[in-house]
Amino acid sequence: MNVKLLRMIKFKTTSPEQTEKFGREFAKSLCGGDVIALTGDLGAGKTCLTRGIADGLGSTSYVSSPTFTIVNEYDGGRLMLFHFDTYRLSGSDDFLMSGLDEYFFRNGVCVIEWSDIIDDLLPEDTIRMTIKGDGNTRSFECECPEKYQKYMVEAALKVGAETEE
Ligand SMILES: Nc1ncnc2c1ncn2[C@@H]1O[C@H](COP(=O)(O)OP(=O)(O)OP(=O)(O)O)[C@@H](O)[C@H]1O
Ligand SMILES: [Mg+2]
Repeated sequence: MNVKLLRMIKFKTTSPEQTEKFGREFAKSLCGGDVIALTGDLGAGKTCLTRGIADGLGSTSYVSSPTFTIVNEYDGGRLMLFHFDTYRLSGSDDFLMSGLDEYFFRNGVCVIEWSDIIDDLLPEDTIRMTIKGDGNTRSFECECPEKYQKYMVEAALKVGAETEE
C-alpha cells in the first residue's frame, strides 16, 4: 500500500517582504522536478511568494505574473524556475492540449498559480499551498510531503513567521 505521509503545515506572515523571504529560504531546499501548487484569491500573495522562490534559486529577473503566456521561464539560477498562471485555462484538458505537462518532467522547479484548475494533473509529491488573508496578514496552509516538511518549518521559523501545528 502506498501511504502518503502528508502533513498540514500552517504559518502566518505579516508583510509582503516576509512572504518573499520565506520563499527565498524555502527555495534552498528545492530540487529539479519539484512542483509547488498555489491557491488563493486575487492578491493573496502567490506572485509575491514566487518572487522569493526565484530569488532563492538565484535568478536575478523580476518575477511578475505571466500575462501573454501561461508560463514564464526564469534561468540564471541554481535551477530553472517555471512560473505558471493557469487562471485563463478552462481546465486540465486545456493544459494537456497545450503540452504544458511536459514542464513537470524538465529539471526545474514549477510554481503554479491557480493550480486548483489542474489539480488532477499534479505530480504525486506536489507541495500544495493555500494563501488567505487581508490587510498585511496572510495565512499559509501547506499540504507538505514528508521530504519537505522539515525545510518548510525551518524556513518559516527563520523568517519569523508565526507557526501553528
Ligand atoms: N503578508 C503578505 N504576503 C504577501 N503579500 C502581501 C502581504 N501583505 C500584503 N500583501 C500584498 O498583497 C498583494 C499580493 O499580490 P500578488 O500579486 O502576490 O497576489 P497573487 O496571489 O499573485 O494575485 P493574482 O491572483 O492576481 O496573481 C501585494 O499587493 C502585496 O503587497
Ligand atoms: Mg499572481
